[in-house]
Amino acid sequence: MQATARAGSNIAFVKYWGNLDEEMRIPVNGSISMTLDAAHSTTTVEFRTDLTSDHFILNGNVAGARATARVSRHLDHIRRLSGTELSARVVSQNSFPTGAGIASSASGFAALTVAACGALGLELSRTDLSRIARLGSGSACRSIYGGFVEWLPGNEHEDSYAVPLAPPGHWDLVDIIAIVSEEHKTTGSSAGHPLAPTSPFYEARLQELETTLSGVRRAILAKDFAALGQLMEAEALFLHVIAMTSTPSILYWQAGTLNVLHAVRRWRQEEGGPVAYFTMDAGPNVHVIAERATVPALLPRLRQVEGVQDTLVCHIGHEAHLLDRQ
Ligand code: DP6
Repeated sequence: MQATARAGSNIAFVKYWGNLDEEMRIPVNGSISMTLDAAHSTTTVEFRTDLTSDHFILNGNVAGARATARVSRHLDHIRRLSGTELSARVVSQNSFPTGAGIASSASGFAALTVAACGALGLELSRTDLSRIARLGSGSACRSIYGGFVEWLPGNEHEDSYAVPLAPPGHWDLVDIIAIVSEEHKTTGSSAGHPLAPTSPFYEARLQELETTLSGVRRAILAKDFAALGQLMEAEALFLHVIAMTSTPSILYWQAGTLNVLHAVRRWRQEEGGPVAYFTMDAGPNVHVIAERATVPALLPRLRQVEGVQDTLVCHIGHEAHLLDRQ
């Protein structure tokens, strides 16, 4: 009873930030993302009769107690579905450098879900997989699909899952991740969600959200890069304003973050300069989104920005899938 699965991470243009139900990860708002190829997790799950507890190996090392407990809790949902009580050995490898500050929970829990369900022979729909992945990490529900994906927030477990908006081949966008800090985040996204409602700007963002969601959906379907870009920058800044003005306040930005934001805007103003837009997750690194043809002009400039330690070029990724089942 063993299976290996691979899932790509994703970058959200409209972000998940705040939950209606923390335990079940029912978000307050819908979100829209693009699945990434170069930042992926490959996970093997083996259910074994000789284990008395779950074992979790992450990037070649035995994972800490908290990470192992989170994986175990996730496996419990899947064990309940199949009726097994067997413990598992989970081995997961991220394609991106360890500690590069790139969120791995989306790809990690999507790959874990597909591998564990595959190992137990559960025949589930993509919607079922998306719902289950959500329980492990909210954004993981979107990584079940490739291409452009929307998470329908719902009100309870049954109606909170992701749906595909457009397949990977729809639009050749690229996410260049400008890594400005490899330090571990002080406040991870799981700790950030419950703080969101303490910001005075939280309600203001929610009021904007339906308009933002429909604008982003429309821009993706029409391949209107300028429209998508304007909306995604405004939305990323909104999220960070909420984080900064929460109690306690979370300040994710480093000096290098701000350098990249200014550079991206400066290049857009330049005659013939590379046209790109930025977004950021709950961390200091900047995701610079561009059309593929822009990459040769954009990448060397991005590498020159003060504070940028490394760059990772991600094209659009495919749906989470099984690589092997025994
Ligand atoms: C800012 O999905 O990482 O990246 O459910 O607690 O694991 P948990 O949170 P997570 O939150 C993602 C936050 C975000 C925005 C997004 O990806 O939508």
